[in-house]
Amino acid sequence: MSQQLVQIDREHLKKLYAEEEALFLKNHPKCRDAFERAKNSLLDGVPMHWMKKWTGGHPLFVKQAKGGHFTDLDDVKFIDFCLGDTGSMTGHSPDVVVDFVSKQLNNGITYMLPNENAIWVGDDLKKRFGLPYWQVAVSATDANRFTLRIARHITKRPKILVFNYCYHGTVDEAFVTLADDGVTAECRATNIGPQTNPTNTTKVVEFNDVEALERALAPGDVAAVLCEPAMTNIGIVLPHQDF
Ligand SMILES: Cc1ncc(COP(=O)(O)O)c(C=O)c1O
Repeated sequence: MSQQLVQIDREHLKKLYAEEEALFLKNHPKCRDAFERAKNSLLDGVPMHWMKKWTGGHPLFVKQAKGGHFTDLDDVKFIDFCLGDTGSMTGHSPDVVVDFVSKQLNNGITYMLPNENAIWVGDDLKKRFGLPYWQVAVSATDANRFTLRIARHITKRPKILVFNYCYHGTVDEAFVTLADDGVTAECRATNIGPQTNPTNTTKVVEFNDVEALERALAPGDVAAVLCEPAMTNIGIVLPHQDF
């Protein structure tokens, strides 16, 4: 089959982008206003720094969300394909969750002690996933940090391995990329103020590169490979069948 190279007209693309951005600004004046007010007290006008990267010039501010939809401050209604990046994967505020959480609010929210619900959760996770013991973390970053420490402690190996342009939260060891030569590890360009150069702690290889992975693991100094089943933070990169 002959392959035809499709030439993208970059100037036309720029024009279309500018038109869409202008439309976005026109349709979201209240969100824009909220963003300007937020800048008085929130760094870059957002509660979490990655929210400033949203396309359209400023983030949408949410008024209300239920099920698979949310409405922004300008009363524009959206189908939500993000669903809190898994936190709301079963839909926003399902009634059964709202009922249970509302009841719990009357019994105290946080007390630095376990309650009996924790036992139910541990038993249920064990039943569902077959792993014998569970711990709770407040974020995926924390869970990854715990896991890496435990892996290094058990294996007595100093290094971890990640894939090029992975994202595993703000885990310091993971901010490593391959240099232009495709072999050497280097500190990721946007990694501000690293406590140590992560090339000391981490090996990095390209996802789907079995040979490079085998080479990196061969010396036996890697305590854990931190890996998603499919990479989800540089678009979606699926694993090849033999990977
Ligand atoms: C694969 C992966 N790991 C970890 C994280 C970070 O999660 P958290 O913000 O809960 O630390 C993300 C967030 O996008 C992620 O996609």
